[in-house]
Amino acid sequence: MARFTHSNKHTYTGTLLLLSCLALIGAALIADFMLASSSYSPAYLSIASKWAREKSGFIVVPNLNASKVGQKESMAVKDKAERIPERSLSATFADLPAPELEWEQMPSAPVPRLDGAAIQIKNLFYVFAGYGTLDYVHSHVDVYNFSDNKWVDRFDMPKEMAHSHLGVVSDGRYIYVVSGQYGPQCRGPTARTFVLDTKMRKWRSMPPLPAPRYSPATQLWRGRLHVMGGSKENRHTPGLEHWSIAVKDGKALEKEWRTEISIPRGGPHRACIVIKDRLFVIGGQEGDFMAKPGSPIFKCSRRHEVVYADVYMLDEEMKWKTLPPMPKPNSHIECAWVIVNNSIIITGGTTEKHPVTKRMILVGEVFQFHLDSLTWSVIGKLPYRVKTTLTGFWDGWLYFTSGQRDRGPDNPQPRKVIGEMWRTKLHL
Ligand SMILES: *[C@@H]1O[C@H](CO)[C@@H](O)[C@H](O)[C@H]1NC(C)=O
Ligand SMILES: *[C@@H]1O[C@H](CO)[C@@H](O)[C@H](O)[C@H]1NC(C)=O
Ligand SMILES: *[C@@H]1O[C@H](CO)[C@@H](O)[C@H](O)[C@H]1NC(C)=O
Repeated sequence: MARFTHSNKHTYTGTLLLLSCLALIGAALIADFMLASSSYSPAYLSIASKWAREKSGFIVVPNLNASKVGQKESMAVKDKAERIPERSLSATFADLPAPELEWEQMPSAPVPRLDGAAIQIKNLFYVFAGYGTLDYVHSHVDVYNFSDNKWVDRFDMPKEMAHSHLGVVSDGRYIYVVSGQYGPQCRGPTARTFVLDTKMRKWRSMPPLPAPRYSPATQLWRGRLHVMGGSKENRHTPGLEHWSIAVKDGKALEKEWRTEISIPRGGPHRACIVIKDRLFVIGGQEGDFMAKPGSPIFKCSRRHEVVYADVYMLDEEMKWKTLPPMPKPNSHIECAWVIVNNSIIITGGTTEKHPVTKRMILVGEVFQFHLDSLTWSVIGKLPYRVKTTLTGFWDGWLYFTSGQRDRGPDNPQPRKVIGEMWRTKLHL
């Protein structure tokens, strides 16, 4: 463990040093975060084949035809000056070869949302909070019924509850909602924590987290609610702390959170999953947008961030183990996973920024992590690249809704915040 802690600190010092120079570059790229996009209305593609035309079997570049790659990239960034020798760059930001999946569009959510959260309880899919636009956040829950494929309900969240970057987890009846960002733009977080009894449709308050966090990794494990990582109060600094509190039937059994073994790497937007008595933390990032100093509306401004492919696991030894990383760095996947047939399925996300243009790059693949062999595969493509999807699985169908999608087949940068719901029949 000492080695983990040390190397992490080392990396983070490097991050801080880089931050000061890269913040300047970043400031020019704020627009990537969330552009209002009323003018954007491409025809929907029901089959994923249109957006990634790479020939299968090659991984290094998205298109082997070098002259075409040049054209594609210049289209993507709309700036001839940014043409770059694609072949010399790593593939982390490129689309990976992936089989096609046939997607069917289902009824859209009542509102578009980014950085919201979701919990599936049997055939009901509870979709929480999120940004509608950068200046408007939702404070309600929409409910989708996978059995009849309808949005069937809507109810309010407590006024004091955060509106995005929540930590959420459920035991099958109670949904715990931990900390998160309170308000629009890049406002501060709250430590307030709540629990929803989905049967009685009642909210209750829980002891607040020892300190607020943005998008902490959150799970129920061995009778305790575990919360770790996330970003600290300034929205950028990764938190390494890990806390837990005993819970049962929607009630905290203790007055205070207990300190647990810290996580090797902090930061927000990771998938956190418990399966067969092991806790997994997958992907995520260090750093995030921050409020512009002095801005009365806490205007978001881009800062340096690094996306990771890391997979960490805790077992009964209570020591973190490192497992094989994702096929590419991936963040904004906190509610983008489901467990199917002893494997974890993850849809979409964001990967490392383009190394030359520094543009944000979305992910359009569907990943599978096999829990028996601890290996990853890429099992399909989404209808488009999209981050912070809310993902469910019912009756053989993989569903996703919400998030922020790309600008089009040739441009992986983020644009429109969506409420669309899609599904595909999964054959693993
Ligand atoms: C590469 O692109 C050029 C120009 O579009 C085309 O003429 C050529 O056939 C392409 N080659 C391959 C291998 O796709
Ligand atoms: C969900 O749909 C099923 C099938 O139509 C129905 O029996 C059930 O009552 C619905 N549940 C809710 C909460 O709407
Ligand atoms: C999961 O495994 C079962 C039993 O092997 C199989 O029938 C089912 O199709 C699998 N599910 C998916 C989504 O592939």
